[in-house]
Amino acid sequence: MTKRVIVTGGSGLAGKWVVEDLVAHGYEVLNLDRVPMAKPVARTLITDLTDAGQVFNAMASSTTPKEFDDDLEPKPIDAIVHFAAIPRILVTTDNEVFRINVMATYNVLDAASKLGIKKVIVASSETTYGIVFAHRHRDPQYFPLDEQYPVDPMDSYAMSKVINEVTAKAFHARTGADIYCFRIGNVLDPVDYQKFPGWLKDPGLRKRIAWSYIDGRDLATACRLGIEKDGLGFEVMNVAADDVSSDLPTAELLKRFYPGVPVKKQLGQFETLLSNEKLKKLLGWQQQYRWREQAPR
Ligand SMILES: NC(=O)c1ccc[n+]([C@@H]2O[C@H](COP(=O)([O-])OP(=O)(O)OC[C@H]3O[C@@H](n4cnc5c(N)ncnc54)[C@H](O)[C@@H]3O)[C@@H](O)[C@H]2O)c1
Repeated sequence: MTKRVIVTGGSGLAGKWVVEDLVAHGYEVLNLDRVPMAKPVARTLITDLTDAGQVFNAMASSTTPKEFDDDLEPKPIDAIVHFAAIPRILVTTDNEVFRINVMATYNVLDAASKLGIKKVIVASSETTYGIVFAHRHRDPQYFPLDEQYPVDPMDSYAMSKVINEVTAKAFHARTGADIYCFRIGNVLDPVDYQKFPGWLKDPGLRKRIAWSYIDGRDLATACRLGIEKDGLGFEVMNVAADDVSSDLPTAELLKRFYPGVPVKKQLGQFETLLSNEKLKKLLGWQQQYRWREQAPR
């Protein structure tokens, strides 16, 4: 049976891997984005997700790959992967980051709920922990950052992501749909591994993201596993590699950059500070792409 998935933001850095992976696994994928895909492995319907009318229209439309296909009748959608967003601060004004991210997510979840779509994966962010875009250096309350952490960011981007998680929980309460929010670490494309020599030389560069990373292809696998895993209800899960993006041991990074922050568990030599235990437990996710195997030597 065809599984129909709408991906939003599939023209972006992370979303393109999700579209590619789903198409490779036999899904029929429609991408909703403001811009086309650089490598169009699925059809893009140009949509402004901050406009509720466009979102309802797009989500009720045909996902068929081509306009000359035999059957252009709209069919029910099995799942949505919602990645479209302004993905950081300082690229547009703070109020626009907040408005676009919050309204796009509300519109997608509202339409999904009213159209009876039972599974939505939402891109949240590690920035919700309040460290990444803080005005000045900020120690977290503890490491590793896990989903129980009382999130308290101060920037407009992370604020929008915290609100999106609250919105997602509210729509789950209304419909019972499975909505999984992924607090994603720093997403890497294969070309980004070229940056490792510079990052290793200056470990302070990645201090704000607690040296997290996630290969876009591993993130795509997590999304597919989420689509395929039914019945979890509303869940928040970190999505991060097993290891830190540094050749310094985790204990050394903590000693140099976060002395005095309580560490809640015994950490492995290079263990991530953005816990991925929940993702592994709930979705059976495993990391495939490690910087030590991908980066130039
Ligand atoms: N890149 C990272 O390291 C990272 C880390 C954590 C979370 N995230 C989240 O993952 C998601 C994808 O991030 P990315 O790095 O691929 O960003 P990106 O900017 O490369 O892609 C986002 C896509 O969303 C589209 N978009 C933005 N506003 C839109 C609108 N109003 N209507 C329709 N489309 C719109 C853009 O055109 C773009 O193609 C985002 O939700 C981001 O917040 C990214």
